[in-house]
Amino acid sequence: MKERMKDLRESSIKAIVECDSAELLEALRVKYLGKKGELTGILRQMGSLSAEERPAMGQLANQLRSEIEQAIDERRAELTSKMMEMKLEREAVDVTLPGEEVRLGHKHPMYNVLDQIKDIFIGMGFEIVEGPEVELAEYNFTKLNIEDSHPSRDWTDTFYFTEDGKILLRTQTSPMQVHAMETKTLPIRMIAPGRVYRKDEVDATHSPMFHQIEGMVIDKGVTMADLKATLNLVVEKIYGKGTVTRFRPHHFPFTEPSCELDIQCHKCGGKGCPTCKGEGWIEVLGAGMVHPKVLSGCGIDPDEYSGWAFGMGLERLAMGEYKITDLRLIFENDVRFLEQF
Ligand code: DAH
Repeated sequence: MKERMKDLRESSIKAIVECDSAELLEALRVKYLGKKGELTGILRQMGSLSAEERPAMGQLANQLRSEIEQAIDERRAELTSKMMEMKLEREAVDVTLPGEEVRLGHKHPMYNVLDQIKDIFIGMGFEIVEGPEVELAEYNFTKLNIEDSHPSRDWTDTFYFTEDGKILLRTQTSPMQVHAMETKTLPIRMIAPGRVYRKDEVDATHSPMFHQIEGMVIDKGVTMADLKATLNLVVEKIYGKGTVTRFRPHHFPFTEPSCELDIQCHKCGGKGCPTCKGEGWIEVLGAGMVHPKVLSGCGIDPDEYSGWAFGMGLERLAMGEYKITDLRLIFENDVRFLEQF
């Protein structure tokens, strides 16, 4: 019996020390110390011993039990800390490694300019409105006092949807004047930015799609002086204080009188340079006093109310601000271009 216990001590301690998982260790515990385990098996044979031998053997067996238990406890502690080490190693983050660069986008340069303009007009109490790009010829032309024979109505200048020429892609944001007058309560102060379309061949200064910003004020007693003062203020906010402007007579069917607004070239101060194509002046927008016929066509009494309006090209403004020389760059979305702003 002593011999069997010695064998069991040797084999069990060896197996426990070599065991490399918590599950296996538990299986070993059952194997050696469980109810049907090897040590229990030995103890069961105690009955066959003499009364003198029994206490000594019992003591030996108890000692063996506690040795095996201790070996298991030690091995369990070792395995637990080894598992923890492995887990930490697996989940370790080396904070000294270089990070993965996340490329962030940013606002398109043209929308920077648009946001700047929106801010200026919001600051003056204007409302920002949007309207349809697919428009009725009636709003794009007729209600704006553009006669049937006007060249801008030509099939070679406008994208028509229907053979009868009644539906088209708007060629200007000016129909938003009509929409605003027909739907809003007076007085009106609004700007309407958006896309417009014309049958233009693409080159450095032309595109069949581009953006305009329309602006309009309708109230009692509004005069050309209000138009000039407001637009001068806007120009100073965009181009800097003291920017010289020039209001040049022009013709638009929906305004009377009409004008174009030029700014003195900020590059050469009016002497003439490549930026202003030698002219000394840069054209910024078209404007005028809303034509009485347009007012009355929208149900507004021109004897009681008056107003002014303007329309400007957004791309041209952005090109001026960021010194962009080719319009196509604005739409091509080449990141090498966009990253510069
Ligand atoms: N819609 C005109 C164009 O595309 C620009 C314009 C001129 C708009 C005068 C206006 C205005 O509101 O009053 O050329």
